[in-house]
Amino acid sequence: MKLWGGRFESGPSEVFERFSGSLDFDRRLADADIRGSEAFARALERAGILSAAERERIVAAFEAMRAEAASPAFFEGATDEDVHTLVIRKLKERAGAVADKIHTGRSRNEQVSLDTRLWLREECDRMRSRLCAVMGDLLDLAAAYPGAAIPGYTHTRRAQAVLWPHYLLAYFEMFSRDGERFGEARRRANALPLGSGALAGSGFPFDREAMARDLGFEAITANSMDVSGDRDFALDFLYAASTAMLHLSRLAEDWILYSSEEFGWLELGDAVTSGSSLMPQKKNPDSLELIRGKCGRVMGCLTSLMVTMKGLPMTYNRDMQEDKVPLFEAADQLGGSLEMMRDVIRTAKLNPARPAAAAEESWVVATDLAEALARAGTPFHQAHQIVGRFVLESVRAGKRPADWTGEEMARFAPEFRPEMAAYLNPKKGMTSREIPGGTGPEAVASALAHAKRRLEQMDV
Ligand code: ARG
Repeated sequence: MKLWGGRFESGPSEVFERFSGSLDFDRRLADADIRGSEAFARALERAGILSAAERERIVAAFEAMRAEAASPAFFEGATDEDVHTLVIRKLKERAGAVADKIHTGRSRNEQVSLDTRLWLREECDRMRSRLCAVMGDLLDLAAAYPGAAIPGYTHTRRAQAVLWPHYLLAYFEMFSRDGERFGEARRRANALPLGSGALAGSGFPFDREAMARDLGFEAITANSMDVSGDRDFALDFLYAASTAMLHLSRLAEDWILYSSEEFGWLELGDAVTSGSSLMPQKKNPDSLELIRGKCGRVMGCLTSLMVTMKGLPMTYNRDMQEDKVPLFEAADQLGGSLEMMRDVIRTAKLNPARPAAAAEESWVVATDLAEALARAGTPFHQAHQIVGRFVLESVRAGKRPADWTGEEMARFAPEFRPEMAAYLNPKKGMTSREIPGGTGPEAVASALAHAKRRLEQMDV
């Protein structure tokens, strides 16, 4: 069956049918298409196109179809152009001639927008709840090692000591913003496009507000041409998915390094690592490498749709059918990566002695010393110079911070007071960073408690 044809003397070639068909991928919208069509049948009744009995017959047929559409058998042997055509054909098989009225005053251009919006709303919710699960796992891992100190890095060089929970909370914030972005993407998708027709607005007096209420939309779209040519809602989702993947990828990158022999901070679970077919000793972080790798695919999805859309003249163009492959692909890859990351986090074990040793044998305390001098009255620029020379001398003499005494420090530079030797221990400097958002132990404890409360309050 086709939803068009009268104007043609012969049908499409087999090649064109194969080339243009979208059922292979847009079948994923079947449930949304049926739900949208049920609501449309009710709108047709309100507009006087369907009688109550006809509407009842159609909605009952759709309801039966919804259950079947959940199984692959529903699509077996189908050669329809797209999911919209398939659903209407199946309606006709079930409800008979009355099905010919279901597409009155409706275009597939608005229908595909509606279906995608319905699908996206749920997918945004699913992503938010998966993100929250990962955030909860991060908090658990933070709570397991509340006092562990690690060197924080800039330029991949040891910079300043931070608490392990402080480091994990940084990712908590990133994922929290991702959750917000999915909330925003949902909000933007949450407007009813039906009533827009193909591009000019429907020729039937539908009560669009009533349709919006029926389908749980917060608003109705404002311009029929915009609806016909708009895929911003898909791009918003893809951008949110890309930043979430970016954050997962950076966490993966960190942990690939931190679990290496060179770092030795983290032990990844057997359940999320694999061995080598040749080298018997290997325990490879494949799960994390794949998360990092899939990030590229998801960013590719965003780029793909951006490029598809950028040169399209108003309004609908068939190019837009290509939106679904990257959309579904991004959702699958992000969903899978979040699920995978949960397992990685829950099976990871920190070996706190290794990062503590890395902090202690380095000069992550240099800033703490310079700031101690500045607090005691030395102008910071001079304090910076003094500590810089102190580090240079230590490097030359092969001395670590712990090798100095307060008296030796005071001999090196009179500005050093013997009690400043306390800052040679990285833990001391952290106590001076009790500023909100800083790595001071109390600041971190309250940030952890706050994060926990925020997570509990998230409505997912
Ligand atoms: N399958 C199309 C899509 O995904 C919707 C159909 C609109 N087709 C058309 N020729 N106007 O965009």
